[in-house]
Amino acid sequence: MLLEVRDLRVEFATRDGVAQAVNGVDYTVDAGETLAVLGESGSGKSVTAQAIMGILDVPPGRITGGEILFKGRDLLKLKEEQRRSVRGAEMAMIFQDALSSLNPVLTVGDQLGEMFVVHRGMSRKDARAKAVELMDRVRIPAAGQRVRDYPHQFSGGMRQRIMIAMALALEPDLIIADEPTTALDVTVQAQVMDLLAELQREYDMGLILITHDLGVVADVADRIAVMYAGRIVETAPVHDLYKAPAHPYTRGLLDSIPRLDHKGRELYAIKGLPPSLTAIPPGCPFHPRCPMAQDVCRTDVPPLYAVDRGPVSGPGRGSACHFWLDCLEDSACRGPASDTP
Ligand SMILES: Nc1ncnc2c1ncn2[C@@H]1O[C@H](COP(=O)(O)OP(=O)(O)OP(=O)(O)O)[C@@H](O)[C@H]1O
Ligand code: SF4
Ligand SMILES: [Mg+2]
Repeated sequence: MLLEVRDLRVEFATRDGVAQAVNGVDYTVDAGETLAVLGESGSGKSVTAQAIMGILDVPPGRITGGEILFKGRDLLKLKEEQRRSVRGAEMAMIFQDALSSLNPVLTVGDQLGEMFVVHRGMSRKDARAKAVELMDRVRIPAAGQRVRDYPHQFSGGMRQRIMIAMALALEPDLIIADEPTTALDVTVQAQVMDLLAELQREYDMGLILITHDLGVVADVADRIAVMYAGRIVETAPVHDLYKAPAHPYTRGLLDSIPRLDHKGRELYAIKGLPPSLTAIPPGCPFHPRCPMAQDVCRTDVPPLYAVDRGPVSGPGRGSACHFWLDCLEDSACRGPASDTP
């Protein structure tokens, strides 16, 4: 296993009290595998990624528990210096906003080349040649000339390709892409996503793809982890999850995206809002919004049950719902609006 996150917990000290941003997250990523992490805004997707990368804002953030095993080592036990050498060389991150992640006063060639000078001890000249090669690799036209340009001289899509090139430079084993295409036009989004998926396969890297967009993950991801209020509420191979979700929250997300095969059907919106992280509801944190909630849901926190019975069940499926089997077997966990033909 390339990456194994176990029972990770992260808090933030805020004016309103302690925000429990990550509350016992477990997930794994294999070499060559793409895990999509999905969930509403504030569900803890980015904070989990920042904890893995070692770039969490501390303070106000604080890791209060868990392990992050990367190639067998617990990253949380490494010294900052060791952590730094893992970052970039063994794992890299792609952010939504390339313009604020790239240095505005250095040419892209210098920024890409720097990676090879610092980490690989290359000469400036060789590093420059590597930079051009990488820019070619991410299909930036006329890379030999554009290597002398500054970030602001590129379009958003091209800048995002440069971010991908930076992340790939040292051929890391794991890439975390946090909403890598959200800031781009729809057509450019698809091109950048295709490129990322292609390079991931070619380099056989593990990829964690964080996104709001269920539409994007269907083609790209192998598995999905759905987050809610700092927990994984469902995890499954992508196609299983699309066929038959085992958690009412996932069902709500699926029913709230437009689908070609459901033309004319009214879109469903999950009622209510995500909980405040300083006052997460007791029991199942989703219960105030859940169309299936029962008394037990208000008191007992559901563990991540193995989804090992019913249709489309199997190894690697889990649901944090007391009634996952009912959800899997019929459409009762669907909100009423979604049944409108
Ligand atoms: N620097 C910070 N200071 C204080 N609280 C923070 C900070 N970063 C994150 N949080 C808290 O952690 C919660 C989870 O944030 P996170 O960025 O992981 O959400 P997300 O799932 O990535 O959402 P989005 O889809 O909007 O990117 C936030 O709602 C906020 O309460
Ligand atoms: S445990 Fe209860 S409240 Fe939570 S998702 Fe399942 S049915 Fe809904
Ligand atoms: Mg985020």
